[in-house]
Amino acid sequence: MVMRRWGAALAAATMLAAAPAHASAGYDAKTRMFRLDGGGTTYAFGVTDDGYLQAAYWGGRLGADDPIRLTKAQGLSGFDLVNSILPQEFPGQGAGLYTEPALKVAWPDGNRDLVLKYVSHKMSRDHVEIVLKDIERPLFVTLDYSIDPDTGVVGRSARIENRSDTDVRIDQAEAGALTLPVAHDYRLHYLTGRWAAEWTLQDRPLTPGATVLESRRGSTGSENNPWFAITRDHDAGEEYGPVWFGALAWSGSWRITVDQDPAGEVRVVGGFNPFDFAYRLKPGESLDTPTFYAGYSDHGMGGASRLLHRFERDTILPHDADGKLPLRPVLYNSWEATGFDVDEAGQIALAEKAAKIGVERFVMDDGWFGARNDDHAGLGDWTVNRTKFPNGLKPLIDKVHGLGMQFGLWVEPEMTNPDSDLYRAHPDWVMNYTGRPRTEGRNQLVLNLARTDVRDYIFKVLDDLLDENDIQFLKWDYNRNWSEPGWPEADVADQQQIYVKYVRNLYWIIDKLRARHPKLEIESCSGGGGRVDLGIMSRTDEVWPSDNTDPFDRLTIQNGFTYAYPPAAMMAWVTASPNWVNNRATSLDYRFLSAMQGGLGIGADLNKWSDAEFAEASRMVAAYKRVRATVQQGDLYRLIIPNGIDRDDRVANLSVSPDKQQAVLFAFLHSSQELDRLSAIRLRGLAPKKNYRVARIDGRPLADDTPAKASGAYWMARGIDVPLIGDFDAAGYIFQAI
Ligand code: DGJ
Repeated sequence: MVMRRWGAALAAATMLAAAPAHASAGYDAKTRMFRLDGGGTTYAFGVTDDGYLQAAYWGGRLGADDPIRLTKAQGLSGFDLVNSILPQEFPGQGAGLYTEPALKVAWPDGNRDLVLKYVSHKMSRDHVEIVLKDIERPLFVTLDYSIDPDTGVVGRSARIENRSDTDVRIDQAEAGALTLPVAHDYRLHYLTGRWAAEWTLQDRPLTPGATVLESRRGSTGSENNPWFAITRDHDAGEEYGPVWFGALAWSGSWRITVDQDPAGEVRVVGGFNPFDFAYRLKPGESLDTPTFYAGYSDHGMGGASRLLHRFERDTILPHDADGKLPLRPVLYNSWEATGFDVDEAGQIALAEKAAKIGVERFVMDDGWFGARNDDHAGLGDWTVNRTKFPNGLKPLIDKVHGLGMQFGLWVEPEMTNPDSDLYRAHPDWVMNYTGRPRTEGRNQLVLNLARTDVRDYIFKVLDDLLDENDIQFLKWDYNRNWSEPGWPEADVADQQQIYVKYVRNLYWIIDKLRARHPKLEIESCSGGGGRVDLGIMSRTDEVWPSDNTDPFDRLTIQNGFTYAYPPAAMMAWVTASPNWVNNRATSLDYRFLSAMQGGLGIGADLNKWSDAEFAEASRMVAAYKRVRATVQQGDLYRLIIPNGIDRDDRVANLSVSPDKQQAVLFAFLHSSQELDRLSAIRLRGLAPKKNYRVARIDGRPLADDTPAKASGAYWMARGIDVPLIGDFDAAGYIFQAI
């Protein structure tokens, strides 16, 4: 009987009334197999006769009674030893391992052979902890597995512990290895980018030969993002086919390596980037890896991202005191309007105008502090610039509050300009190698947050700023990556710990600030989307995907973003036309509809707007407020993908509320040509039997032949004709169940 076979935790999960019946961790003592079941996913692994921990299964949910067995691994020849064929859950670098290790260490006596075998385990309802140990030395690894009951997303991390009486150096530490079954038509999808061009979705066949996704930059970076998805070519589409996906919760240098081993199995190994990595563990010390989240969907890339969004909304993003995920308020940001040229009168004038169109949070960007008149000076001096704000920030903040808006402020706490009082007082506080040049990026240097004194100083400055001013929101910026990552004050054997300690101290600062100021919200910005990952997202409420605010470019950027991260955290602004990126002119409606697909912001210079533009903006903001819960926290269907296989020159996205009462459609045309007719856009995810009334978001009348109401089945099978024509045309629709 299954309950007996799969052990106590599964039995308890099934019997506890409060427990979700669809989540469990189980152990079969006879076969020494572990399995985690959640949502539509099963993840299983077991202990081999030799004591290795071997992957057994990761995919669609199996029946509770189904037999899961380990595949017996055999070496292929003298060249491919069994250790490289055996898909270990956490391979140590030793015993002839040629595939990617999860852990590589060096002992002072020169031993670099590490073979990890099962020692013991502990379990709870949706958690498994496995202890591994080297076959000879007291180096222990505790693997932590969790499974999310709703989405089946598995979280994996490891604690590496030195219980010997000598030091040991860790050269590589990963959260774990994930294994996909043998197949030869896998395709890897991943995200690449650069400043103002983040979130480009790439794909390539997954064949032998490793693909390395990584950041060596000290922070997440936009060159690659720590997310991947894998599909099968014979069975893949936006809404069908199997997808294995994963994302790392780490905001420092990271790496995900994907490779197919000589036996045809695919391994995905992710964690700290071993590039320039070395971490000494003294006797009794331990190192925790980041968490690697892994999920599976049977419903294509769309199904995978909806699952991941749900997991991110429910489990990763910060919730309020009532346990709810707060909606993103409509925001105004001064950056594109005023640049560094901020002052009390100018910001008040903008705030008054922003309030009139329904803005809920007014954010003053860069330029308010120290000698900050351009990007050459002032970073690090977080005192109000008295020329620009003779009476401090209070008059502006009071005015903003008086207008019924929250007040937000830009900070970049991890940086300093050499031309700043902070740097003059503490030149040793930045990362550096003694006696060597310090390479500047945007005229700034990176403070070494790994140092406890620097960490405490930054915390205090921000804590004081929040104590002294009534601030509801910080836009936390980070405008360069590392160079010369030296830490001369630390013992030479510990200097490379900077890669871990910097990030952990950053997290410490944010966590402590949030604990001390529980109503504070934070945006993670890194010159755009350079620091977006599940580590930073678990402590910030929203992210800035890109400095590129061209509403057409944004369609591709935002599309890429949504494969890995949810609209619930994605900010987008309406800015000037023509836009600075491509000098492209677009209508105000087009800009609004592009920006309304996430958290809506306005970043235009409102002093330049006409009465007609104010009226249109007010209408669009009001409409947005009616649909934002659905847009931000509903299910996203990418109906027409930019540059997709359907050779359509449109982009269309649909959000459906969890109760299927409301759906919101956004459609954009790049350029019409030669009187071509456009296909109807067919919706997804509606309740077929419900009737939905449709209206345009902008309040304009529907096209003559569009029915005002029809069933969900009709909108999904017949679709809606969206009359788009010319260049950069757009339309939005609200479908409301009657
Ligand atoms: C980069 C950010 O991405 C911009 O939005 C703006 O805040 C500037 N930094 C300010 O320096």
